[in-house]
Amino acid sequence: MIGLCPFHDEKTPSFTVSPTRNIYKCFGCGKGGNAVNFLMEHEGLTYPEALRNLAQRYKIEIEETGRSEEYDELKSARESMQIINDYALAHYQKELFHTDLGKSVGLNYFKERGVLRKTIDQFQLGYASPKGDGLTSTAIAKGYSIELLRQLGLTNKNDRDFFFDRVIFPIHNVTGKVVAFAGRQLSKTKRGPKYINSKESDLYHKSKVLYGLHLAKTAIRKEDVCILVEGYTDVISLVQSGIQHVVASSGTALTIEQIKLIKRYSPNILMLYDGDPAGIKAAIRGVDLVLAQDMNVQLVMLPHGEDPDSYVNKVGTTAFRDFLGSEATDIVHFKARLVREESADDPVKKAALVHDIIETLAHIPDAIKRSIYIKQCADLLAMDEAMLLAETNKVLSKRIRNKRVEKFREVRADQTRGGDAGFPSREEGPESGSVVQSVQIGDEFQEKDIVRILIEHGHKTYKKGVEETSVAKHVIAIIEETLPAFDNDKYRKMVELYREQINAEKQITEAYFLHHTDPEIQQIAIDLCASPYDYSENWTTRVSVLRTQPDPDENQVRDSDQALLRFMLRKINKMVEENQKMLMQQQEQNASDDQINLHLGVHQKLLEKRVEIANQLNTVVF
Ligand code: GTP
Ligand code: MN
Repeated sequence: MIGLCPFHDEKTPSFTVSPTRNIYKCFGCGKGGNAVNFLMEHEGLTYPEALRNLAQRYKIEIEETGRSEEYDELKSARESMQIINDYALAHYQKELFHTDLGKSVGLNYFKERGVLRKTIDQFQLGYASPKGDGLTSTAIAKGYSIELLRQLGLTNKNDRDFFFDRVIFPIHNVTGKVVAFAGRQLSKTKRGPKYINSKESDLYHKSKVLYGLHLAKTAIRKEDVCILVEGYTDVISLVQSGIQHVVASSGTALTIEQIKLIKRYSPNILMLYDGDPAGIKAAIRGVDLVLAQDMNVQLVMLPHGEDPDSYVNKVGTTAFRDFLGSEATDIVHFKARLVREESADDPVKKAALVHDIIETLAHIPDAIKRSIYIKQCADLLAMDEAMLLAETNKVLSKRIRNKRVEKFREVRADQTRGGDAGFPSREEGPESGSVVQSVQIGDEFQEKDIVRILIEHGHKTYKKGVEETSVAKHVIAIIEETLPAFDNDKYRKMVELYREQINAEKQITEAYFLHHTDPEIQQIAIDLCASPYDYSENWTTRVSVLRTQPDPDENQVRDSDQALLRFMLRKINKMVEENQKMLMQQQEQNASDDQINLHLGVHQKLLEKRVEIANQLNTVVF
């Protein structure tokens, strides 16, 4: 099956799914994997989360090993809590839509704020009546645990509802489960906090949740930027206006966990803040954190007194989008502008602000990006670029020094504990688990072809004359001795895995590699199996006319013979080279005639073998 890729923007479909192999592969962006990888990539789940998600969806019981009784208890408590939250969600929705007060007060509130019915449904908004125990009493009647209701913060100590006389904003996690609620008071005249929130629980860690992310994630990936706002209503209004790549940190200062959550979908953040001093402060607070994650931040200040909700409702979607486009400023320019506007004639203040900018610049991990910013900053502030650079480097080297000292202490602590972490760390090296090399070296191409033959044809019969065995056994018997000379470790590993299975008399199928736990091996298998070309549907009818051609699927003998010959030719060429090298060395060292003759003999044999193979391949060796 083929369709538009969900991982990159495209107009011509290049995303293929093979239901029989249970894999997907995009020939546009290269992404590929199985059902588990798809969920990990698309929904931003971890491996265990993806497994649990699939298991739940298809009612498959998964056995989790290595877990304790405590874990079991915790897990079942979490499941119960989720059930209670789902119940509370339904309760607040029912109160909104199906009670008189809900309709007259709750729905009316949303209507006055311009929230449409479809948006209310989309965000699962609700209403908690002033009655004060509607949720708790019905939940208990249904047999839910009062203890868990309290832990979730839905019920007070005195068994009253925590939320009453408020409109309700459910808060979801990335997968769309309701993990908490926020309640907004209905009128401005009331005393007490405007918003109240569920307390933290096993389901809800507020530093790890972004309001609206479950709805925004696909749009964030498509637009390749995440708009960050402050309030629930800002998210709701923007989404209703068709600006879907938006989330809110909801009252808390932006956390590293939240930034990493965004980074799963895009490295770009656009912060929208109220144009008052409090808004500016709030915006600047999060910026250094974001930069340190090697993400790009832009800021937009809204006109004084407006927030995204009020402003988009005032000017409309098009004008709002235009505004974002023209006003977005990156943080360095933003700070530089502050310097100009706020401290034009005050050298002391200016120095402090410039130091502040330098601190920010030093948070940018990418050296090229950093130097571009430094140049722009120098221009903007009419300052000496070399001086700014030197100051930034000072801050940087101080930070690196501090880090090293920290690292050193860690290592020392580890050594005294008897650990083996005393080796110099490979901080500067590439991240482990990075993707498969894309450049082929040495005989990798031929080795890969051997792996392909094994995966594609390994289990089929190899029949030639009287010889009848499996393709895998035939191939492995021939190349076994050259395994140590493989240029690519992964390919060698795959052949070895195959050999192990065969030696254990086990059947090995494509699926073994396609769903292998080593992600690199899996990726190689997927790339080998997922061919952008497929047999035409008329193949069988054509073949019955043109009987000279074997079915493509029956090509295994010829296919594997050729792959083997090409492989051996490469290896023999290599042996010839090595033998020649040794021969030269020995001549230089005046070795005995016997030794030299030995190498000459080997040389002769290798050449003969090469000609033989080349003849079989019908190619000419120059
Ligand atoms: P509306 O006034 O309904 O438009 O909400 P808003 O989102 O515009 O509110 P505001 O800009 O005042 O606050 C932004 C965000 O800060 C809110 O969405 C809440 O997440 C949080 N917040 C505001 N007031 C309170 C409060 O009294 N208590 C708590 N805990 N959070 C608040
Ligand atoms: Mn508002």
